Amino acid sequence: MAVNIHKPMITEMKRRVLEALRERSGYLSGETLANRLGTSRVSIWRHIRRLEKEGYLIETSRNGYRLVSSPDLLLPFEFPGLEQKIRYFSEIGSTMDAARELAKKGAGEGTIVIAEAQTHGRGRLGREWLSPKGGIYFTLILRPKISPVNAPRINLMASLAVAATIRKLFGLDAGLKWPNDVLIEGKKVCGILAEMDAETDVLNFVNLGIGINANTSIPRFEKTATSLKHAVGKDISRKEFLGALLVEIEHRQASLMEASLLEEWRKLSVTLGKDVRIVAPGEVIVGRAIDVDTTGALIIRQRNGSLKKVVAGDCTQ
Ligand code: BTN
Repeated sequence: MAVNIHKPMITEMKRRVLEALRERSGYLSGETLANRLGTSRVSIWRHIRRLEKEGYLIETSRNGYRLVSSPDLLLPFEFPGLEQKIRYFSEIGSTMDAARELAKKGAGEGTIVIAEAQTHGRGRLGREWLSPKGGIYFTLILRPKISPVNAPRINLMASLAVAATIRKLFGLDAGLKWPNDVLIEGKKVCGILAEMDAETDVLNFVNLGIGINANTSIPRFEKTATSLKHAVGKDISRKEFLGALLVEIEHRQASLMEASLLEEWRKLSVTLGKDVRIVAPGEVIVGRAIDVDTTGALIIRQRNGSLKKVVAGDCTQ
């Protein structure tokens, strides 16, 4: 079924009104705003009303307008410089489907599909990814010039970027479980799903889907998942997190094929050195995880001493 890709309902004027209000800590008169943005006071007033409907708290007085607070929405204009690359949805089936359609139509490297919630979020191995409001859900279209064989390195790079962002912003000890889960205190906080379109030697695109339990509540009985809100002890700023994560991903893409990527992954890995059971397509592999190779495959020492390379699978440790 074709995905209906809407242009986001964010007008340039609304963005500029917001920008002007943000620059000023006090009041800004309707007249000053209108002159500055080359429009009428009535038009300014309409844009203010629209912003309020979206959750911006704007105080109105004889002196004009004052921005009191902004909602924690992942709207394109919250990411200066990336607005043109972002397709924003308050709700969607799956950002993976929208991204696939966009990529097939030739959407450029770095296009990002963001949703506040997904009704049919997809996880690895055909699982469902519950995606209520409060989480962070996006798919990034990448067109790296690498061989398809090295595509799993993109998963390692993305999980490293998420873990690094968590460490930088909250000082939490985020770890990496092969192939691409990010854990806090042994519980999953982020899942990554990469879908690629390739011919024998050419990688057309890789859609990197990232789902983060940000401000989602975790039931007490939940043993395997956590959220940033739960780990930090309070709501986090999702837009600050996503902004920092996108910078981290961009920065790490440059070193995608460098040895440093694997070295860093090894340092944060909570899989290496552990006894694992991997359910891979058509086989179950049991043994000790001893390393990752240059393609991102996991190397297992099996009980009979032989080494086995695993490219994809579900890992229990
Ligand atoms: C996993 O099973 O661990 C991977 C989960 C990936 C979820 C993300 S949320 C954004 C993107 N859209 C989806 O439908 N799935 C991915």
